Amino acid sequence: MINDKKVLYSGMQATGNLTLGNYLGALKNWVSLNEEYECFFGVMDLHSITIRQEPASFRKRARNLLALYIAAGLDPVKNCIYFQSHVSAHAELNWILGCFTYMGELNRMTQFKDKAAKHSDNINAGLYTYPVLMAADILLYQSDYVPVGRDQQQHLEITRDIAQRFNAIYGDVFTIPEGYYGKRGAKVMSLQDPSKKMSKSDENPNGSIYLMDDADTVVRKCKRAVTDSGSEIRYSEDKPGVSNLLEIYSACTGKSIEEAEKEFDGKGYGEFKPAVAEAVNAILEPMHKEFERILQDKGYLDSIIKENDEKARYFANKTLRKVRKKVGFTDIPR
Ligand code: TRP
Repeated sequence: MINDKKVLYSGMQATGNLTLGNYLGALKNWVSLNEEYECFFGVMDLHSITIRQEPASFRKRARNLLALYIAAGLDPVKNCIYFQSHVSAHAELNWILGCFTYMGELNRMTQFKDKAAKHSDNINAGLYTYPVLMAADILLYQSDYVPVGRDQQQHLEITRDIAQRFNAIYGDVFTIPEGYYGKRGAKVMSLQDPSKKMSKSDENPNGSIYLMDDADTVVRKCKRAVTDSGSEIRYSEDKPGVSNLLEIYSACTGKSIEEAEKEFDGKGYGEFKPAVAEAVNAILEPMHKEFERILQDKGYLDSIIKENDEKARYFANKTLRKVRKKVGFTDIPR
């Protein structure tokens, strides 16, 4: 608990470009969580180097991601939004927890197997111990809740196992985190293959709408989106392409799926697709303006970063001190 509120923790990696799916499925839903929870949202840049990054563009992308958090509506005063690499406690706790994690557990991680297959030329130890660092992220802030998609559920499970193991040895040190399954975000699929999630690592750029896409690109991608046999605009399992566009339209406009179906009843793709694009652009355009404004004001952004780093460090170091004492490291004389 912090300020009588339960703690909620999440973050995104600064790799690739965020998509509309990341926004509608996660980011958008984070915006109001601070009313009920003490929220921490990290830019997970330590995790990003498990895959080789080009330094200049990596630096820029990480800063852009933080600015995008703010542009998407996360209030940097009410939420702690910070860079993981600015809080050294993450790396320290990572080491300690690594000594309480079994290789057998890490061997079972499906994401490691997937990533190792995809980057067979660089299967490094960081990729292997990725879940330990993620456990450190979550446990440092005594987090109660972690909003996770299905792909991260196994990582949350191992975090709980590590925390329980540590607590069993040393007493109540860590809060055992749970998944946060509050109101469901929209599930956005690829525009080119609606059986796959819209992904920032998709090789086909027409499958994803990126948050930084300009209006014309959004129009073009929506126009090219695959649809299904028949011309009806209806949400159903046998119409994955149209259903996905309806889901996007509904999430962007706030209208229900039923309302959207009614609106396009008797109309064709020629009217529907441009309307989807317009709804998306109505979200993206103000976000772009805000993003540019924030990035241009270097002094403002730097001061936000400083304050939030400090806040993160304060809470993280509190936990780390406790862990150091429990493990039996000698005191650091002050
Ligand atoms: N692994 C997460 C992802 O790729 C990012 C992440 C790192 C994270 N540490 C976290 C998410 C802690 C939630 C909590 O999406």
